[in-house]
Amino acid sequence: MSLSRVGLIGFGTVGAAVYELIETNLWEAFEVTKVAVGNPNKARSAAIGDLLCDANELVRSSEVDVVVEVMGGESPALELIKTALTAGKRVVTANKELIAKHYDALMEFGGDLRYEAAVGAGIPVIQVLKTLARTNRIQSIQGILNGTTNYILSEMEARQAELAPILRESQELGYAEADPTSDIEGFDSMYKIAILGAIASGEQLDLTQIHREGIQEMSLQRVQEAAEHGKRLKLVATWSRESGARVVPQALPMDHPLARVDGVLNAVKIEGDFMPSLTLMGTGAGGRATASAICGDLVASAPSTMSS
Ligand code: HSE
Repeated sequence: MSLSRVGLIGFGTVGAAVYELIETNLWEAFEVTKVAVGNPNKARSAAIGDLLCDANELVRSSEVDVVVEVMGGESPALELIKTALTAGKRVVTANKELIAKHYDALMEFGGDLRYEAAVGAGIPVIQVLKTLARTNRIQSIQGILNGTTNYILSEMEARQAELAPILRESQELGYAEADPTSDIEGFDSMYKIAILGAIASGEQLDLTQIHREGIQEMSLQRVQEAAEHGKRLKLVATWSRESGARVVPQALPMDHPLARVDGVLNAVKIEGDFMPSLTLMGTGAGGRATASAICGDLVASAPSTMSS
């Protein structure tokens, strides 16, 4: 089995967890040879000190076979990924904004680009949906796709607390984006449902047409009122062939399959014409769960017997 050399762009919560997973469970097949970080002066693990290099150098390096992009954001991630693919490298990314906004272009670009971790962190929903979309006409997708907001809504009810202190906690737990307004205002869920909708329909969704509401105005009083009516507030993302995509907080009755998906869990319900209903549930945010999906892509892309 040949050793794949990994170049890691980003060494925040997710990047550090990818490094740890490779060192712990995949060291026989993968070795991190280069790491690019936004701010090299920030305290980093001593272990990566010798590996630090510029991201532009990393994506061209002859010492890198596969690039893992966990820096996030649209630019320069898009340029870096295209350069890596053009250089014949495999690329694994967790960047939902990038995939959602450039789905068609990236699929046409060619090369080995994988993005399982972009939706649902550790839940293998991309893989499952791609398979279903080949055999079914997917009719609808409904999900809780943001771990931060689901954690906040669950904890607000469980602890009778307002949003702000729980948001801080979710940031400390490594669930929130670098800019948590992406989570709270529903952008993160919007990117994720756009990716799922694109896979289901075969073409990129127009993000400007997606109705998006977040939980920035959510009060404990609203959470309590929902509970008094036997309901639970959830930030629900939906896509359907007829109506397109939307992200809206909803008070779900307790017998709804998404109502009891609590804390940092995500869940996705997919309906096809032959497969009536399939629901996947699992840890939807955090370094370790996201690293699990990223490393799943690494293993799947490896030119060895590992993927079988
Ligand atoms: N901030 C994201 C979330 C991370 O809370 O779901 C996983 O994509």
